[in-house]
Amino acid sequence: MMDEISAFKAGENGPPLDGAAWRAAMGSFASGVVIVTTLNGSGQPVGTTVSAFSSVSLEPPLLLVCLDHKSRTRAAARRAGHFCINILAADQGALARLFAGPGATDRFSGVATTTGTLGAPQITGALASIDCRLHALHTAGDHDILIGRGLHINAAPGEPLIYSQGRFLDL
Ligand SMILES: Cc1cc2nc3c(=O)[nH]c(=O)nc-3n(C[C@H](O)[C@H](O)[C@H](O)COP(=O)(O)O)c2cc1C
Repeated sequence: MMDEISAFKAGENGPPLDGAAWRAAMGSFASGVVIVTTLNGSGQPVGTTVSAFSSVSLEPPLLLVCLDHKSRTRAAARRAGHFCINILAADQGALARLFAGPGATDRFSGVATTTGTLGAPQITGALASIDCRLHALHTAGDHDILIGRGLHINAAPGEPLIYSQGRFLDL
């Protein structure tokens, strides 16, 4: 069955939606920022910056991230079957940029981490690091929705990093 965006592209529900307008509208939403970490097939840490993150369920404890099909972290998390969500603090904008830039494994050099209960890195200074088992995966257009079941939390007090309209903000 065709999803809503594909249907728009195909012109079935009206004129094709303008991609730039879509990006601008989505970008006007303010969100927190997380770094998703996991291990690749060689056991090396990989990770990337994600704003498409949400809590899903309390019982059982489920959360979700949406990752582009091109994302190496998506492929690694899918293969590993687990990942860690690191909710960034207001002073971690540079890390958010680093983990969105080129390079996969070398993003970690010089970054303070500890090893989570499932083996994925936990980023020191994050407001919360949540070790998750991959609970379900749904393909939606050019992204996958990865649903994780939280197994362990490390949390610290602090203000969150905020992202909106292409800029990092704090409260
Ligand atoms: C603030 C911010 C938010 C982002 N959110 C997402 C997201 O929700 N999903 C996604 O797939 N990529 C997102 N990206 C882009 C990825 O971080 C970027 O494509 C990265 O290079 C992917 O790395 P990988 O291929 O090593 O996984 C975001 C980037 C930034 C700077």
